[in-house]
Amino acid sequence: MKILKILSLIILLVNIKSARSQGLATNRMIEQKVDSVLKLMNLDEKVGQLVLHTGFWEFTGPIPDGNRASSEADKIKSGKIGSMLNVVGAMSTYNAQKMAVENSRLGIPLLFGYDVIHGFKTMFPIPLAESASWDLDYIRLSAEIAAKETAVSGVNWTFAPMMDISRDPRWGRGMEGAGEDPYLASKISVARVKGFQSDNLANRFSIAATAKHFAAYGFIEAGREYNTVEISNHTLHNIVLPPFKAAVDAGVASVMNSFSDFWGIPATANSYLQRDLLKGKWGFDGLVVSDWGSIAEIMEHGYAEDLADAAKVSLEAGSDVDMESAAYETQLKSLVEKGVVSMDFLDDAVRRVLRIKFALGLFDDPYRYGNAEEEQKFLLSDVHLKASREVAKRSIVLLKNESNLLPINAEKKQKIAVIGKLAEDKDSPLGNWRAKAVSNSAVSLLEGLKENAGSNLTINYEKGYELTSGDRIFSVNLTFAADDGAGFKNAISLAKKSDLVLYVMGEDALQSGEGRSQVDVSLKGRQVELLKKVLEVNKNVIVILMNGRPVIEPWVYENAPAILEVWHLGSQAGNAIADVLLGKYNPSGKLPVTIPRHAGQIPIYYNYLQNGRPFDKNRDPKFVFWSHYNDEKNSPQYPFGYGLSYTSFSYTDMKLEKDTIGLSDTVKVHVTITNNGNYDGEEIVQLFIRDVVAKPMRPVKELRGFNKISLKKGQSERVSFEITEKTLGSYGFDGNYSTKPGLFYIMIGSNSEDVQLKELTIK
Ligand code: NOJ
Repeated sequence: MKILKILSLIILLVNIKSARSQGLATNRMIEQKVDSVLKLMNLDEKVGQLVLHTGFWEFTGPIPDGNRASSEADKIKSGKIGSMLNVVGAMSTYNAQKMAVENSRLGIPLLFGYDVIHGFKTMFPIPLAESASWDLDYIRLSAEIAAKETAVSGVNWTFAPMMDISRDPRWGRGMEGAGEDPYLASKISVARVKGFQSDNLANRFSIAATAKHFAAYGFIEAGREYNTVEISNHTLHNIVLPPFKAAVDAGVASVMNSFSDFWGIPATANSYLQRDLLKGKWGFDGLVVSDWGSIAEIMEHGYAEDLADAAKVSLEAGSDVDMESAAYETQLKSLVEKGVVSMDFLDDAVRRVLRIKFALGLFDDPYRYGNAEEEQKFLLSDVHLKASREVAKRSIVLLKNESNLLPINAEKKQKIAVIGKLAEDKDSPLGNWRAKAVSNSAVSLLEGLKENAGSNLTINYEKGYELTSGDRIFSVNLTFAADDGAGFKNAISLAKKSDLVLYVMGEDALQSGEGRSQVDVSLKGRQVELLKKVLEVNKNVIVILMNGRPVIEPWVYENAPAILEVWHLGSQAGNAIADVLLGKYNPSGKLPVTIPRHAGQIPIYYNYLQNGRPFDKNRDPKFVFWSHYNDEKNSPQYPFGYGLSYTSFSYTDMKLEKDTIGLSDTVKVHVTITNNGNYDGEEIVQLFIRDVVAKPMRPVKELRGFNKISLKKGQSERVSFEITEKTLGSYGFDGNYSTKPGLFYIMIGSNSEDVQLKELTIK
């Protein structure tokens, strides 16, 4: 008996060694290696591969059984944990990996997961802000740099990118996504996946990416965190799923499911989403990880009787790895032994985990991620900070610029008043989900401006208001001072004696993010009150909005003469804002979300389905039976795709090469863009389509292309888009994509409301 055991151990070690030494070549080779390891595993070890535990000293959600540091080390050593999250740093990951590789029977290496949402230590703009750049190269670069810093810190798996489409600014997590449009979000998600993973997971600084949260989490009712979801099949296939499908096609290694339910079934236990669509129809062969505790929460949803039931329905529905529910860890073994859960489900899940571990090259070298010297060299390096500044300035959106207040003329002697607590804030620009960012390490707006302004501008600062929580924020993490208005007097007198006022207002970093829903998305505290007083004494006010979600402040939008939306821009925020204020960079960002006029309009988005009684200005406004509000306009404050430049662009001579084509033909549409202002600049040219009569009906506009071009002043460029069957189609109830003959509007413009239109008939 003993000899047999020794013999089998020898075979096993030889097998694993050969699996390691062969390296990664083809997927077929990986499959063979996966099979050979799987054959060696006992039931405990298989279950272990599906267990994902948080590190001993960090957490990002409730811990099921408090104090368990030492037992975790024992579990790693006995192969009962397959992956860790929140164990970060070359030394920590090395130590944990060593326990797995050297002590466990099979020596299977661990995955180390971490939320690297917009940078690891060098912070880039929050994802929503980056999305406003529509600049896929820079977005990819930002993920690439985050991956490099993450990889040298020992982490090989990130829980990003989030690709939940959201139409609701009340939801705090919109800051993590790419906005409201499925086409833009698909392109951005792929850029992020490629940035993290490169074209080969085995590359030196590649880490496995995670498409999350599958699916429809961004549609939680009333924007209240973790709430139920109620969406149509149409919305699922055409709005929610496209970014995930694009990420899967681009080879994303893992998918995280969602806390929410879908069609009455928690996403974590949803076979339709995970088995039928993701793993079935789309052929996804990576791993599906649960969200934190989402398997156990199925009981709370009222979908599972107990933890065993929750484990069974989740595994069967395609949730491969259990993050912090202790459900697989405690239940799966006996469920399989009793025959309640088939070994096939278990093996399939284990295969998926091993596949990623092989693809990452961990069997070749379990310690390839994590290098203390490189941590010193790369984290917060000058190159990374420079890249962050480049991405940040491209993420800024110019919303208004009356009387050309911007850019500030730094050649002229001027007294500039900087007012607003957020101007000196070195923390809020880092945004939420800030990984290993050092608190208070961002370049503040004030610092950035002083550093870059030159000698003609005299810059004075008054904080004016306090960043308060108002009386409606209950979150335990926000304990702001009350504002007794003590700072108002000095701010107003500074504004009075200055040539120009930069009024900085917005949100603290932690007002958006997970668990940060708000019913009221106007600005808290007395910021607007002070702005009104400042405008009474000085009309030359530039408002700088620093926030993590679309903010509803109609008075500000209507009365401030100039407005820059700068979001939370990361480590280099102040420098990037200064670049734009001083005209060293001409703003080019466009909104990836609609900004409502009023919270009562939510959800408001550009790609809506037309109703039978659309309100139209040519119709009698006194007649009430149109789709409208009696007390507010239908239109948004700012539409999707909107953003100005210091220069102006004209769109002329739009031409569709043919007005009728066959279904499989292609046709080009052209338009001439001319920079007829006084500055060189970039413009994001947007292509929308409408399938005019369709069954089921299609939205009034759908983004199907964009092109970011750079034009010197006075220069013109002919921009072309190719329209194919793929450009015009949509997903049906069966989740299949098709294009049907009929009349289409082809629209090109500078935003979703400002377009020119040609008709195209598909025969
Ligand atoms: C819960 C969040 O929903 C998810 O996005 C994140 O990756 C996990 N916590 C881990 O921190």
